[in-house]
Amino acid sequence: MSLIITIDGPSASGKTSVARRVAAALGVPFVSSGLLYRGIAYQVLRYHTSPTDARAVLDLLRAHPVRLEPRPEGNRVLANGEDVTAQLHTSAVDAVVSTVARHPEVRAYVKARLAELEPPFVVEGRDMGSAVFPGARFKFYLTASPRVRAQRRARERGEDVAAIEAALRARDEADKAQSQPAPDAVWIDTSAMDLEEVVRAVLERVRTYG
Ligand code: DC
Repeated sequence: MSLIITIDGPSASGKTSVARRVAAALGVPFVSSGLLYRGIAYQVLRYHTSPTDARAVLDLLRAHPVRLEPRPEGNRVLANGEDVTAQLHTSAVDAVVSTVARHPEVRAYVKARLAELEPPFVVEGRDMGSAVFPGARFKFYLTASPRVRAQRRARERGEDVAAIEAALRARDEADKAQSQPAPDAVWIDTSAMDLEEVVRAVLERVRTYG
């Protein structure tokens, strides 16, 4: 089966949780492209490479490759063959990942790593349906207002909503150029929906048209 389902959207739109649940319901692997970008940002920090220097980042990746392994229990990121997954959601990585992800060379590297994966899978990111898997069978773009996204994240992390909303708006701005909804994606505004409702909406469409 060569089924590919893309789920794109901004930070805290719920795309990771939705993609994971949809993949589990269909019995196929879940793939997080954001984790690959985070793995690259981690290498940049570890080897003291300038995140704004595309050539230096590419040289670094040639010497110290980053790989993504989708497994039933979750995605694993290997840097120099070492599992660094648990170290990818730090504020240090958050602070440089958008800068690193902006380089076309880095995006091509990620695209090549993702192209090595064997379908079927559900993949989430910012431009999976447009730039990486334009031929995917099903494409979704999840949105929610910045306030709703901030409230969800604040609930998860027990932090202040206003501070989170400011950080989310800053990251939306930093990620703007990379966030490309596919013209043929189905948009789902999740502002007034809970996770189960979004998962149901995606699965209904996949089962109806699959
Ligand atoms: O989804 P996430 O927050 O883990 O993504 C981390 C960063 O990677 C985010 O700031 C934007 C970038 N990213 C991207 O540019 N393109 C993707 N397909 C996925 C993530």
